[in-house]
Amino acid sequence: MCPGEGVQAPEEVEFTLESIERAASLEELERVRVALLGRHGSISEALKSLGTLPPELRRQRGQVLNRLRDEAEARIAARRRILEDALYRERLAAERIDVTMPGRDRLRGSLHPLTITLNRIVAILEQMGFRLADGPEIEDDWHNFEALNFPPHHPARAMHDTFYLPDGRLLRTHTSPVQLRAMREHRPPLRVIAAGKVYRSDSDQTHSPMFHQVEGLVVDEGVSFAQLKGTLSDFVAAFFERGFRMRFRPSYFPFTEPSAEVDLLWEPGDGSAPRWLEVLGCGMVHPRVLKNGGIDPERYTGFAFGLGVERFAMLRYGVSDLRAFFDNDLRFLAPFV
Ligand code: FA5
Ligand code: MG
Repeated sequence: MCPGEGVQAPEEVEFTLESIERAASLEELERVRVALLGRHGSISEALKSLGTLPPELRRQRGQVLNRLRDEAEARIAARRRILEDALYRERLAAERIDVTMPGRDRLRGSLHPLTITLNRIVAILEQMGFRLADGPEIEDDWHNFEALNFPPHHPARAMHDTFYLPDGRLLRTHTSPVQLRAMREHRPPLRVIAAGKVYRSDSDQTHSPMFHQVEGLVVDEGVSFAQLKGTLSDFVAAFFERGFRMRFRPSYFPFTEPSAEVDLLWEPGDGSAPRWLEVLGCGMVHPRVLKNGGIDPERYTGFAFGLGVERFAMLRYGVSDLRAFFDNDLRFLAPFV
């Protein structure tokens, strides 16, 4: 194709102009542009050589070459637009978002089943009129044992498998020391609970070295064992929202008299036969403990209980080994609500 008016353009230029439309990529187009219009491109060289021609021919040829250059520039620009457009569409197709693809699930956290259980126990007891009290996990011997009527060398201390600190203090083995703190802080009538971690060197299917207890304490004039039984039966019914076979079994604690432990009938769900699972200890507060708490045992009586949170969680969720709560396996932990 030649735009010259009756003037023949040089062969090699004609040939190269058509290669503009044949360029299949922007890189190839750039090579063509350099070959035509670059400093040593064929059109540029032809323009440079005009000076050697006689004036008439120089004018004619100069016009043709100038038009050729203009046309080459226009056709290169047009070809570039086509190639860029194709590239853009290719990219759009490659980067297309398929809205029908399944979304990526976000891992959502949830409360630990023991936290859920502890919250539930506390909420029910608060509804029953108990107020939450608190005490430290690192206790002294007086609060954990002595004031609770465990004299030094009393055999009942051995049942607690205590972790001692080098300075003689200890990791509390139960929440009962909070009873003393509550009694010494408030006057009767008292109706308090304390919830938290306790520690014993103990581990099997129904025991772990760190576990949770919720303590309850009621002190007033005329408090009776019948009220203790009624309170615990109501609590168990509210917690499980279904009937559970429950028994009060006579037991011994130095800080209560009389004392009992409560068992619930447990179907372990691992193929073994149903059996009684101890869930709490309780009793009437020993007069000596009331006295250590600064309360007159001639005037006041009280009941107390200490329940195992892990045991209630096992029964509620049908978990056959309590240690599973501490393995941090998400496949186990995720389904609880
Ligand atoms: C006590 O700890 C008493 N302080 C309870 C008490 C409070 C009695 C107030 C009277 C008045 P005991 O050692 O039985 O008692 O523990 C209470 C409950 O904690 C047990 O019934 C059981 O449910 C739970 N428990 C005990 N040891 C473990 C353990 N190693 N792992 C998980 N739960 C445990
Ligand atoms: Mg016990």
